[in-house]
Amino acid sequence: MSMEIGVGFLGAGTVGSALIRRLIYESDAISSKTGLQLAVRGIAVRDTTKQRGVEIPPGLLTDDPGTVVDNPDVRIVVEVMGGLEPAGELALRALRSGKAVVTANKELMAARGSALLAAAEDSGVSLLFEAAVGGGIPIIRPLSESLAGERITSVMGIVNGTTNFILTRMIEDRAPYDEVLAEAQRLGYAEADPAADVKGADAASKAAILASLAFGSWVDGNQVPREGIEGLQLLDFDYARTLGYTPKLLAIAEDSDDGVAVRVHPTLVPVDHPLASVRGATNAVFVSGPSIGELLFTGPGAGGEPTATAILGDVIACARELLARNEVRSRIRFAQGRVRDMADVTTKWFLRFTVVDRPGVLARIAAVFGSHDVSIKSVWQEGRGVEATLLLVTHESPERHLQAAVSDLAALDVVSEVATVLRVHGDEP
Ligand code: NAP
Ligand code: HSE
Repeated sequence: MSMEIGVGFLGAGTVGSALIRRLIYESDAISSKTGLQLAVRGIAVRDTTKQRGVEIPPGLLTDDPGTVVDNPDVRIVVEVMGGLEPAGELALRALRSGKAVVTANKELMAARGSALLAAAEDSGVSLLFEAAVGGGIPIIRPLSESLAGERITSVMGIVNGTTNFILTRMIEDRAPYDEVLAEAQRLGYAEADPAADVKGADAASKAAILASLAFGSWVDGNQVPREGIEGLQLLDFDYARTLGYTPKLLAIAEDSDDGVAVRVHPTLVPVDHPLASVRGATNAVFVSGPSIGELLFTGPGAGGEPTATAILGDVIACARELLARNEVRSRIRFAQGRVRDMADVTTKWFLRFTVVDRPGVLARIAAVFGSHDVSIKSVWQEGRGVEATLLLVTHESPERHLQAAVSDLAALDVVSEVATVLRVHGDEP
């Protein structure tokens, strides 16, 4: 026997309209597979006259989100408007009034997830957010349920589709940055403000969510140090390729006795590393633990359709829970975590310098690295007469030592420019 459950939408953009189309026009298929009848009861947008790529039956659209949240026929609220406000206040209002909430909003979850989950628990309803990380890849439920018994030591990978799409097109097609970013926006991969993608904020929010679920210590999105891809140049991609590396924007979260270290930055990975072959808007996340070894979750990380699938799964889970009248208690509990200072985090480094091309220069540069306890792994140099390009990869070194060395190197009279400093992941190719 199927029973009808009312669903309300906050937002009907790239993601919302893809899901609304399925709920309205594929309801028979959903019903025959799940036994559920999910009925769209209201859709809040900014502009009710806009074309949305889906025909919306009359009477559903409103520009007053409060009427969707307060509608007694809506039992599940899908928040796909993005941003902190009014999304945060509306989600809280829905939870407090006993409605289940499904959100794709990683910015909101990273900033206020702990408080929202507590509100959901107090009201005995669900707050699900599978789509907030990895688009269509199931990663939230595996971390919070399937792997709840594992002592996860690290979560690491590509979690932003837009930037991976940009890097792929720039490297493979020599396409200009601005042109590829515009293409990512057209394809529905980018955030409403794409600065969140290219400056690393979107990936930082996702890294905070993944770290919180993996390690059971709440990590606030604002605590995650991040660097984006804006400053990267094709020239560096070419030089990195010379040494056997390719650039990726990585989110890295590690747990240790000293605390949790979470960060997002462009990273060089060996060309034979599995992450090197992750192309376009695809995401890929490695989860490691002593018993499971290493798991890889990969798939479409952005775009309306795959993200709609992730949200629909959450909506179905909420509907089943509502019908079973499950108490939604003790879902996820978080301790207060100890976040490590980024300056203590250790990694390998790639550096590109322009230096004076004369005897003794390399020795002076090596001496600076040595004085800061940074060990050089490999050096590649191309002389051009007066000046030379110097590429250098170090062994593992704490960020604070490397940054101190860079600062001293920049002051050397034989160094014209420290052009690039990038982190390196994985073994030498
Ligand atoms: P979008 O295309 O910009 O859509 C946002 C929707 O929210 C629009 O329909 C907009 O109305 C509505 N909206 C925004 N502010 C509003 C307000 N104050 N009152 C009423 N309606 C408002 O964004 P999206 O790409 O669908 O993303 C939505 C959420 O999903 C974001 O949190 C994003 O991070 C997340 N997400 C996106 C993807 C992706 O691939 N795009 C993947 C995973 C997660 P109008 O249409 O009238 O402007
Ligand atoms: N803008 C995001 C990305 C959408 O490019 O990954 C998916 O969260």
